[in-house]
Amino acid sequence: MIIAIDGPAASGKGTIARHLAQAYGLPHLDTGLLYRAVAKAVLDAGHSPDDAGDAVAAAAGLDPKKFDETALKTQKVTEAASVVAAIPQVREALMNYQRAFATQPSGAVLDGRDIGTVIAPGADVKLFIVASPQVRARRRVLELQARGEHVDEQEILADLRRRDERDSRRSAAPLVQAPDAHLLDTTHLAIDAAFRAAVAIVEAVRTGRKR
Ligand code: CDP
Repeated sequence: MIIAIDGPAASGKGTIARHLAQAYGLPHLDTGLLYRAVAKAVLDAGHSPDDAGDAVAAAAGLDPKKFDETALKTQKVTEAASVVAAIPQVREALMNYQRAFATQPSGAVLDGRDIGTVIAPGADVKLFIVASPQVRARRRVLELQARGEHVDEQEILADLRRRDERDSRRSAAPLVQAPDAHLLDTTHLAIDAAFRAAVAIVEAVRTGRKR
């Protein structure tokens, strides 16, 4: 079974993806880490994230087994990730790895922005996870504070809105709900309830019921 999970920043897609992967015994790929790693490589080399040549070279040389997640989750890398992600050749360079992950014999769970539309359009179950910008900003603040970062909630909210805009308006694989994706709004759902709602959708699809 392939489960494709898309949605904007801090909508809860990563947490839902991890929990579903554990529940169904499937490998999980957080595809945002790929774009973050490209962004970090470009920044570390002292280059600008909107320099397509540098970003494409970084994408081509990526080794997903060597990711240091903590270093990839800083605000600076987060912002730069959505810049490199808008470069079509960067997305192209990361495509084969993601498609191979999605189609491995065991099945897989992938989360990102274009999983149900571009990477795994034939996925068995597609979820599109959303939440209000204010709730997403609150979640991201708590997450960053837990990591010891000092953050301003209004700045985080502004960052989310800027990335939503950039991710949704870009011409290459924009963030959009696939026509056959199930919408799940987690604005008023805690992690447990969101996970249960996701399982209910997966089970409904598996048993062939229409929702
Ligand atoms: O957790 P959060 O949603 O803040 O970030 P993420 O999922 O790690 O993604 C970081 C950035 O990578 C996003 O703002 C997107 O621009 C980009 N991305 C993408 O374009 N396509 C994907 N499949 C995953 C991430």
